Amino acid sequence: MPTSPETPALPTTRPPAFPTTRPPALPTTRPPGCPFDPPAGYAALRETSPVSRIRCPAGFETWLVTRYDDVRAVLADPALSSRGASSAHVKADLDPYEEADPGSIIQLDGAEHARLRKMVVAEFTVRRVERLREYVREQVERHLDAMLAKPGRADLVQDFALPIPSLAICELLGVPYADRELFQRQSSLLVSTDQEAGTTDQAFHELAGYLGKLFAGKQQDPRDDLFSKLIVRAEAAGESLDLDELIMLGLSLLVAGHETTANMIALSTLVLLEHPEQRAQALADPPRAVEELLRYLSVVQFGVLRYATEEVEVGGQTIAAGDWLIAALNSANRDEDRYPHADQLDFARESPRTHVAFGFGAHQCVGQQLARVEMQEALTALFRRVPGLRLAVPKESLAYKHNTLVYGPEELPVAWSA
Ligand code: HEM
Repeated sequence: MPTSPETPALPTTRPPAFPTTRPPALPTTRPPGCPFDPPAGYAALRETSPVSRIRCPAGFETWLVTRYDDVRAVLADPALSSRGASSAHVKADLDPYEEADPGSIIQLDGAEHARLRKMVVAEFTVRRVERLREYVREQVERHLDAMLAKPGRADLVQDFALPIPSLAICELLGVPYADRELFQRQSSLLVSTDQEAGTTDQAFHELAGYLGKLFAGKQQDPRDDLFSKLIVRAEAAGESLDLDELIMLGLSLLVAGHETTANMIALSTLVLLEHPEQRAQALADPPRAVEELLRYLSVVQFGVLRYATEEVEVGGQTIAAGDWLIAALNSANRDEDRYPHADQLDFARESPRTHVAFGFGAHQCVGQQLARVEMQEALTALFRRVPGLRLAVPKESLAYKHNTLVYGPEELPVAWSA
């Protein structure tokens, strides 16, 4: 075809090779038959490429940080922001660049974050949570009574593992447990990674609407619970009450307080059923056992997302300002350099509380003491009261939550001898 005078001449030198290889995907597939192990691929990454470029399930490129020391360094670095939703790397319906909602404690940084955290942290201290232990214990016994009244078979998730944390967080926050159908359903939609944007938005708005009404009631008639205290304190300090902020903070606590511990109780039960030889040792020292279970299982299965606000170095790798990073909690907790024979469950492990299952640094889990108390009480009473507990189906037939932020069995059919 004749070339028109306007058409520029073709360049005579070859352009740089077009990058044909895209970075590998975030490892998400667990080794077959090993439901307690993190996805295959992490061990090799820790060894050969501990800070590597990957493609996250939501479609953008991030750094993946896999070693224990590096993960802690990332989570402690104030230059690495939580500004994107901490799960936007796995929830394609979230926009990591969207401005955080006021009150979204997990997405804020610096002074804004510290202010919100201070508003709630006093209700989650060891001392405050110990006062809830008796309540948790009563609920555990009550649910075991109800379970054992069934004819020899139950779903441990619905009958035990979910109600205990749900009741405890309701008691602490001042949310009527009778409304659980609504907030349990919305919570599980909000932690799911494969929902359409519309579904997540609807779940969010329904839950926010519910909490809005609840807060309005508490404004009129405050009680001795965290939500009432937030309202009373804000009014006493003469601060204008930002209801949207309170709703978002309340929503974060309600959702975070549910799924995580419920999955830990169910999965830990399965681990203890699978390791009868270690059960007596675990139950002899529940606080220690719970820490090892948290390390071994690392249920926040896709790690947490951070955003570099300036250039930083992580594990000898330069991370440019504007880059995203995933701190792989499950990989860090299986790092042999930190935990000898890391892939084995070992209830005699030294320093069992050093794991990063609750994160690390400024955003380390607010509810961790509550989660510990719930797990300790639930697991001890379950195996004391039902020593003959067993799986009611072949282990291979169990289905797991691969598409939620928090890993665990979908259901756990159990049986016992009368
Ligand atoms: C075994 C159970 C639990 C696990 C494994 C867990 C795990 C985590 C992790 C890994 C983070 C850090 C997120 C990040 O750095 O971006 C976190 C934060 C948080 N967790 Fe938990 N959690 C558990 C139970 C709870 C409970 C019972 C509550 C009760 C309210 C709770 C409330 C929160 C809140 C509010 C944050 C955000 C803290 C902040 O941003 O300052 N969690 N959790």
